[in-house]
Amino acid sequence: MPRRSKWMHLVAGVVAGVTLGVFLKLCLRTSSRTSIEACPDAAKLYVAPDPLSIIDLRTGETIYNSNRTLVFVGVMTAEQYLTTRARAVFDTWAQDLPGRIAFFSSEVSRAPGLPLIPLRSVDDSYPPQKKSFLMLLYMYEHYGERFEWFMRADDDVYVRGDKLGEFLRSVDSRKPQFIGQAGRGTSSERDALALDYNENFCMGGPGVLISRETLRRVAPHVKYCLKHLYTTHEDVELGRCVAKFAGVSCTWSYDMQTILHHNGSGAAAYTGRLKKREVHRAITLHPVKDHRQMYRLHTYFKNLHIQDLREQSLDLHRDISSSVRKLGVATDEVANFVLPGDVPLFPVKIGEPGYLGNNKILGAPIDFNRYKPDTVEDIVPFDFISKSIYSVSHSNPKRRIETPMKEALDDVIREVMEIINAPSRQRGRVIDFNELLYGYTRLQPLHGADHVLDLLLRYRRYRGRKLTAAVRRHAYLQQSFTGTDIRELPMGEPPPVEEPEILEQLDLNGKNYQNDYEDFDDPQGQNSFLDISKLNVREAFENSLLKIQSNLPKVLKWSDDEYEYPIYDRRIHFVLPLLGRFEVFNRFMKNYEDIVLKSDEAVSLIVVLYLDSKSPLDYSNSESLVNHYRDVYGKDIKIVQMGSTTFSRGAALTEGIKQCSSDNLVFFIDVDMMFNHVTLRRIRINTVKYHQVYLPIVFSEYNPEVVYGDDYNKFKDETLVMNTDLGKYVESEDGATKSDRELANLKYSKVINDDFGYFRQYGFGILSIYKCDFDRVGGFDLNIKGWGLEDVQLFETLIKSNLTVYRIADETLVHIFHSVDCDKKLEKSQFLMCLGTKASTYGSEKHMTYYMLNHPEVLWPQEEKGAS
Ligand SMILES: *[C@@H]1O[C@H](CO)[C@@H](O)[C@H](O)[C@H]1NC(C)=O
Ligand SMILES: *[C@@H]1O[C@H](CO)[C@@H](O)[C@H](O)[C@H]1NC(C)=O
Ligand SMILES: *[C@@H]1O[C@H](CO)[C@@H](O)[C@H](O)[C@H]1NC(C)=O
Repeated sequence: MPRRSKWMHLVAGVVAGVTLGVFLKLCLRTSSRTSIEACPDAAKLYVAPDPLSIIDLRTGETIYNSNRTLVFVGVMTAEQYLTTRARAVFDTWAQDLPGRIAFFSSEVSRAPGLPLIPLRSVDDSYPPQKKSFLMLLYMYEHYGERFEWFMRADDDVYVRGDKLGEFLRSVDSRKPQFIGQAGRGTSSERDALALDYNENFCMGGPGVLISRETLRRVAPHVKYCLKHLYTTHEDVELGRCVAKFAGVSCTWSYDMQTILHHNGSGAAAYTGRLKKREVHRAITLHPVKDHRQMYRLHTYFKNLHIQDLREQSLDLHRDISSSVRKLGVATDEVANFVLPGDVPLFPVKIGEPGYLGNNKILGAPIDFNRYKPDTVEDIVPFDFISKSIYSVSHSNPKRRIETPMKEALDDVIREVMEIINAPSRQRGRVIDFNELLYGYTRLQPLHGADHVLDLLLRYRRYRGRKLTAAVRRHAYLQQSFTGTDIRELPMGEPPPVEEPEILEQLDLNGKNYQNDYEDFDDPQGQNSFLDISKLNVREAFENSLLKIQSNLPKVLKWSDDEYEYPIYDRRIHFVLPLLGRFEVFNRFMKNYEDIVLKSDEAVSLIVVLYLDSKSPLDYSNSESLVNHYRDVYGKDIKIVQMGSTTFSRGAALTEGIKQCSSDNLVFFIDVDMMFNHVTLRRIRINTVKYHQVYLPIVFSEYNPEVVYGDDYNKFKDETLVMNTDLGKYVESEDGATKSDRELANLKYSKVINDDFGYFRQYGFGILSIYKCDFDRVGGFDLNIKGWGLEDVQLFETLIKSNLTVYRIADETLVHIFHSVDCDKKLEKSQFLMCLGTKASTYGSEKHMTYYMLNHPEVLWPQEEKGAS
């Protein structure tokens, strides 16, 4: 040991010596120009690393044996942008290059974690001619033999690595090439730029590509070029230097404007919609002034890439499927089919990672009859599109084309045009989209969307005899669904002790277990080890019943870190504004008792109580009801007494939320709502602090008098499933015993069906949010008085905030019907709005139709009364 540490000291001494030497050299050199103090601290501690290791290039790596030596990208940046733009470039597109990247900056620049080359005797002053030329020299001296192409890029350009690779592989790098967006300056500038009539330059912004040969010819002369600058434009001077020493000018090609794309809108460029032809066709995009946009662009292109891969995967599935058919393998044998030589056709089975997906669906050939309905009812009809959309299945048969459909059509048409124009260059023509004349579309739930489109196009031939003509084409298109992705939410449910199936499994395995370990020390002499009533599944696992775990479906397993965040028992604070309506409150409290108070649900209730002058008794009744439950259960129920203050829902909720602390999870609920255990689970899973609010789309019941009334039902053959009362629930079909929770859930569930109610897509009153997030977005606008609107305003604020607004149709949240009384004293517009609400909750279109058929007097009162 002593010997060894001696050696260590010696080695350390040598290293220190060498480093010291380098420091001295570095500092002295600087100091010879200024003074010794000017040697920057950073530089004192800096040893320039080896150029190869900066860009992570192995010693033996050459253009012949590596797929990451096609292009070397030199990014010109400045010290002030190292942590923003340079960092963003490195984090995003730099990772996808078929080559390497390095950032070139001033001598004093340091950026740990970035492949940075501080250029000697270069500062960050503008224009960066010296930086640009010395970068070329550095590239040539250190990497000249190791890459085929060199790119000079700014730090505000986005480069699509895959497309760049494709493009560069199609050009001969052994020839002198100088590729970029050619410029000559405007005619007024041309004199100032001192360009000859045949000279041009590659504009710097969107990137300039130089072949190895060009670099070889130019680099040795950069010192000369630097001494003979005519202008301050760095890209113009580079062009002049390349023309003089490599004998080439910038490519004159119309294409370059498309693939090296420059948007002239300055800081606004690429901040808006990216679904555009020019964005999709570009290899480089310039300028991306705000480095955060760089990440956005990157995400967008990654998504496009995922789409491509998905499509390839579908194609492969179709190939497999058609081969399987040719081999004559029966559908139900496919999964376990073994090819000659004992090679399984599908090595990975369902449920295992890497499973390929359902081949029968994914591999379905492109065909309008992919899905063959068995009955007439199963046929999915097409919708007709022209200026409006017409559908047989919709309650509003003719309507305007909704935004999602518009967007889908735009996407489809853009893709069609990309396909049509792919061979444009070879054929010397371009075809532009003009107009969609009409079309048909439908959605097959199992397979995807089908479209038939009649497109009006403009055909332009630019080679040979020039020609422009309008043409019409029918396109038959299919967008296929890909496989299902499942994301597990950690601990969204309590340990599933109550699942009968699992209990069975536990029992079963328990017996096996005992057999395996007959000697197991069991002090109680009883099955205490396997006493399921005392152990939850989790504990069972911790008692190393690993056999059980391996038999459980994957979804039920959890890892230790997930257990650190027990979402399933996170406390929810209900805030309930209440004005009068004691009867309904009583119903709500029964619901609350069954779901929350009787079980161990972590929920607190805050009732914000207002005095309704029309029914003053309700106030004290509600108060004593709360006191009653508090006494019986000893659980947390608060009342915020507002007395006879004028009611406003926004103000009520704001008062209620004051009772909570800032990291509390709050749920705004109304007294008409019905909920169950599943609701609570969804609130806990879907509300994420600092990230997401949950705005469920609740199911709103129609008037039961209409739904169950004779007017409709006497026309119906089948008997209706009645589910009017709370307390009635559907018996489980298989007769399996239900847990208390399941029974409670059923008790507070309704039949969800178009006949019974509708999902209130435009209701925003029920939501869950963390109090800190609520405060951060500014809460409710308390200036809004009277009729609603406070929720719409909050919704709009949330949409604009950085929180994700998560909405799903939540069938466990049901708004129980109550008749709306529209006060004739209301202001006219409010009165009409009230009538509208009343009408929309009255019944479904179907019910209303039958009602009309039975009550012609509603539509034609005169006929009933006789001629007037
Ligand atoms: C280069 O090849 C390796 C191994 O085949 C692969 O993993 C990697 O993704 C390739 N890199 C690029 C940039 O194509
Ligand atoms: C440039 O960007 C702006 C703002 O994003 C956009 O409105 C405009 O259409 C773009 N122009 C081109 C030619 O891409
Ligand atoms: C939203 O902004 C707040 C404060 O600026 C921040 O704490 C939070 O992490 C942000 N959330 C997201 C999803 O970016």
